[in-house]
Amino acid sequence: MSLNKLDIYSFRNIRKASIKPSSEINFIIGKNASGKSSLLEAIYILGRARSFRSPSSKHVIQFEKTELIVSGNIYEQSKYNFHLGIQISNSGCIIRINQENSGKAELAHSFPVLLIHPKSYKLLDDGPQIRREFMDWGVFNDETFFLDNWRKYKKVLQQRNSLLKTKKTRHINVWDTELVQCGTIVSEYRKKYLTRLESVFIEISRYFFNFDQLELIYLSGWDKSESFTQALENSLNKDIKYGFSHVGPHRSDFQVLLDGKFAKHFVSRGQLKILMLALNLAQIKLFNSQNQNKVCVLIDDLTAELDLVNTQKLLNYLVELNCQVFMSSTELSNFGDLNKISDYNVFHVKHGEIELINNFICST
Ligand SMILES: Nc1ncnc2c1ncn2[C@@H]1O[C@H](COP(=O)(O)OP(=O)(O)O)[C@@H](O)[C@H]1O
Ligand SMILES: [Mg+2]
Repeated sequence: MSLNKLDIYSFRNIRKASIKPSSEINFIIGKNASGKSSLLEAIYILGRARSFRSPSSKHVIQFEKTELIVSGNIYEQSKYNFHLGIQISNSGCIIRINQENSGKAELAHSFPVLLIHPKSYKLLDDGPQIRREFMDWGVFNDETFFLDNWRKYKKVLQQRNSLLKTKKTRHINVWDTELVQCGTIVSEYRKKYLTRLESVFIEISRYFFNFDQLELIYLSGWDKSESFTQALENSLNKDIKYGFSHVGPHRSDFQVLLDGKFAKHFVSRGQLKILMLALNLAQIKLFNSQNQNKVCVLIDDLTAELDLVNTQKLLNYLVELNCQVFMSSTELSNFGDLNKISDYNVFHVKHGEIELINNFICST
């Protein structure tokens, strides 16, 4: 599956662009502030209907304009071609698949995109929210019933928290039964996913660096010596005191252990980046091995973060993954030796204009 035509209108500094990407590797080069990240952001929005840089999609609309449009043709071997369209204006976001209005979940299944960018190392450094989102992207694509259960869980949790806030906790057990029911399903799905991810993650981490004993551990969001029901009972007094629920899958997390210790506390910055990269590549590999359609991989400015040896390893690995990739950097030479790649396109971005420059030596 690949994006074989992309049209962009009024998107950040890209006034109007139309490109035909390669189904394999696409290099995006250009000076700083030329619009490389904006191009990747447009592709990301085509699959996720939200920006990866701005909390509000409205910031993505070109200054002085009132709406943006990103549309693309997806070519899928097993199916017919289909067309995706995203229109964002002050009144919201409209998603269309083959001209019919659709939702975010359907879009995400139709065109799965995954982004790796310099801030992605926060995956291991930041609070648990970013890791839950990471796990849930994988689980969402693997388990048909995950999203329903997770949505239901969050709704019940909200009800429970409002009871706790107003101290009306006489009938809280009723909510707890439902919370345990969908929360346990969510938790089991995440645990199962991490178990499958672990072996792929270890293999990829070692491809980049000779790490010793690596593990991925799942933290459910309550003490592992207790069941979820027991944990809710035990934390009830604290929950009432503070007016919110302290235990449950809304608090779940995962960690990378190196030789039995939390890796983030003692590995070097460079090693942390490799672990982050390996986690993301493991997600892609796992996804591609289990789904008919493949992930479209977006890699923004990572060459600035990796040394040339690891950049070359990354490129070789991406070629082996055999899915569509868009990678940005200021210079083509930053990507290393391109001789092993059978099919690639080079796009040059300048002041928001995008030009295919295959077979040309360009000065950025
Ligand atoms: N909503 C917007 N409308 C127009 N230009 C914008 C908007 N948001 C950002 N820009 C500008 O777009 C340019 C390209 O940014 P970016 O894609 O991040 O460049 P690059 O990744 O090549 O360094 C920047 O000069 C930025 O100021
Ligand atoms: Mg950029």
